[in-house]
Amino acid sequence: MGGIVTIESHEDASLIYRARDGSIRIAEDFAKGYEKEMPFEVKRPIVTLEHETLIRQHWAAVARGTSVFQPAKHITPAKFFYTTFYSKLFERIPEARALFRSSMSVQGRSLTGIVSTLASIIRSPDVVETTQNLALEHARFGATKDHYTAVGLTLLETLEYVSGPEWSIQIKNAYLTTYCFLYYLMLPVILSTKPSTIDASIPGRITIVKNITENAKCLTIEVDFPLRYHPGDMVVVGPKENDLDTCVPFPISSVYDANVKSLEICVDEVSTDWLYAATPNTIINVYWVHSGVHFEIDTPETIYKKLLFISEGLIGAGFNSMIKGLSLVPDSNPFDIIWMQCDAKLISYFTPPNCRVLYSSTLTIEFLESIADLTQRHVYIGGSEVFITNSFALLHQMGLEDLNTHSYTLDIARTSINIQI
Ligand code: HEM
Repeated sequence: MGGIVTIESHEDASLIYRARDGSIRIAEDFAKGYEKEMPFEVKRPIVTLEHETLIRQHWAAVARGTSVFQPAKHITPAKFFYTTFYSKLFERIPEARALFRSSMSVQGRSLTGIVSTLASIIRSPDVVETTQNLALEHARFGATKDHYTAVGLTLLETLEYVSGPEWSIQIKNAYLTTYCFLYYLMLPVILSTKPSTIDASIPGRITIVKNITENAKCLTIEVDFPLRYHPGDMVVVGPKENDLDTCVPFPISSVYDANVKSLEICVDEVSTDWLYAATPNTIINVYWVHSGVHFEIDTPETIYKKLLFISEGLIGAGFNSMIKGLSLVPDSNPFDIIWMQCDAKLISYFTPPNCRVLYSSTLTIEFLESIADLTQRHVYIGGSEVFITNSFALLHQMGLEDLNTHSYTLDIARTSINIQI
């Protein structure tokens, strides 16, 4: 065929070639051998320089925030993208939830790895090797052939959703063609490598048990897995007997440290008797990190400076981690933090740095009025659903229903492991 220049490596040339127009194509014999395994309609993907430009421009627009991005609701364009992607993915393939144990907010950054791979393959000098190594790595993550189809479909759906009117058939074709191109290159590895079996949970060993009040304990749980999380995230755990009905999300009270293989949670008899009774060396099931209200301290510009935390009892563990996390942010304009604790007694174990702690056994209008600049603060309320309802009712009575408030409750989906991200 005129105009075709095969690439240098002999091995690669049997799989792909570059044309003089700069496009990159799948070799015909290779495509013929694998086309029956290709679930998408693009059986002969040709990735052009125009596709690359479209993907780069489109992705830059998504990263800036398209017209359907709403800052108050979606927080950041990246967050809008990854929360949409993962909720669609787990709806389509719920069993894939266990592949993504770390916090979604952290893994969202890996997700952008897919798009950057799509945006860069045409210029990559070793596209076959890179792609096939990625497929090998993914077999270790537990990714199956069907997962690739689901990820491709979900990626397209998500890109369309977050683009709003900025989506077009040309942009869709650019992503789909490039995804199919990568899929072809990965297919020999996908078909010949058995993916790791992924269990719903991994073992967590309790290493330290500290009494923090008369009826509450702090447990240190060690896991042999790089479980990453943000301050405020929860960890979903259950008893070793694998009784999914008793699996519960707990706020993590520690702050993530890449060098430490453990995390801390606080428990009391009321929240869970089986965990409260646990002793050092007890093994429990650790499922995954659940991201709800949290701080992405690696992008501190997304966090408001004047903050008020209002907590009931042990739910304060999540706030403890959020406030400790803020103290690690290098910032010349420090955070101004007040924490109002409400319970039978002050939990003195929760004493994060750089924060004024106030205590009252119950939340009252008088207690709230003691915060002179209440209306200037972002308010985080954590506790049972009753506590949260009552707190909002008090703010309403004070005429403060427009305050910027975020609520955080332990009552969420206590008995289900299908927790929404
Ligand atoms: C063509 C398709 C795909 C591409 C280009 C791709 C790309 C990537 C990249 C670049 C990373 C980061 C790797 C690293 O940091 O070492 C990654 C991580 C990951 N991918 Fe994929 N991926 C694809 C499909 C899939 C599929 C089908 C699954 C399974 C459902 C999957 C699951 C994962 C997991 C579990 C991680 C690690 C996440 C973490 O711990 O941060 N990926 N992927």
